[in-house]
Amino acid sequence: MNQISSIRTFTTIGSTNDYAAEWAAQGAPHLSLVIADEQTAGRGRGDRRWFTPPGAALAFSLILKPHTAQTITRYAGLGALAVCHSLQDLGLPARIKWPNDVLINRRKTCGILAEASWLGDHIQSIILGIGVNVTPQSVPPPDWPGHHEHPFPPTCVQTELGRPLDRHDLLQTILNRLCAWLPRLEHPDFLRAWEENLALRGEWVHIYAGDASPLKAQIINLNPDGSLNVRLPSGRIQRLHDGEIHLRPVDSSTK
Ligand code: BTN
Repeated sequence: MNQISSIRTFTTIGSTNDYAAEWAAQGAPHLSLVIADEQTAGRGRGDRRWFTPPGAALAFSLILKPHTAQTITRYAGLGALAVCHSLQDLGLPARIKWPNDVLINRRKTCGILAEASWLGDHIQSIILGIGVNVTPQSVPPPDWPGHHEHPFPPTCVQTELGRPLDRHDLLQTILNRLCAWLPRLEHPDFLRAWEENLALRGEWVHIYAGDASPLKAQIINLNPDGSLNVRLPSGRIQRLHDGEIHLRPVDSSTK
């Protein structure tokens, strides 16, 4: 069961996150949902485009109205954990690649775009956008921007599962999982569950931030604000905050 208050469904839309932001500004209640079969201007993190052809994917945005700004750094994790658990319910070895991708067998299956809108110091809403590749048609083609450089190549739920599944059943499971965690967002259990499902834990990765040269580091754990602790080769622990950060596995020969 979930407590979705109001739903707007589209056959085609630019971006569900953009529509949800406008609807939230016009007074959409907490837990309103925007869902589209196709997006023509789907957005990923860092101004990348997100591929959502018709009939193939899940693309939706949930409008959340937090009472406090204290938990806002946990919302991307909330979306990722809800998707990760829903895929695990299907028997798939899903993991969360910090900050907000969901991988199956080290291949990207889902992306999360959590966007906050503020009025002065007050948080107005969080738009939690979730895109899941469900059928093989939802996997971006090789000429899709950024595709070729992806260290965790895209896949879809059906390919990993080896059988078809109903997109709407998966949506229900994700929403149920999400609504179940939402009241416990501040609880240590949430952080523990997020951390337990992290991909690449203990592994050495290259961390790319902007144009700076990559930093080699080992993934350790999460802080209460959702930032990631990594160990540098010197042994020093560094805290990474969400932003334009990318993690790539270190080639085993250069460890
Ligand atoms: C990423 O991996 O960079 C995040 C991708 C987020 C895609 C979803 S699909 C539904 C919602 N609407 C958008 O335009 N983007 C998000």
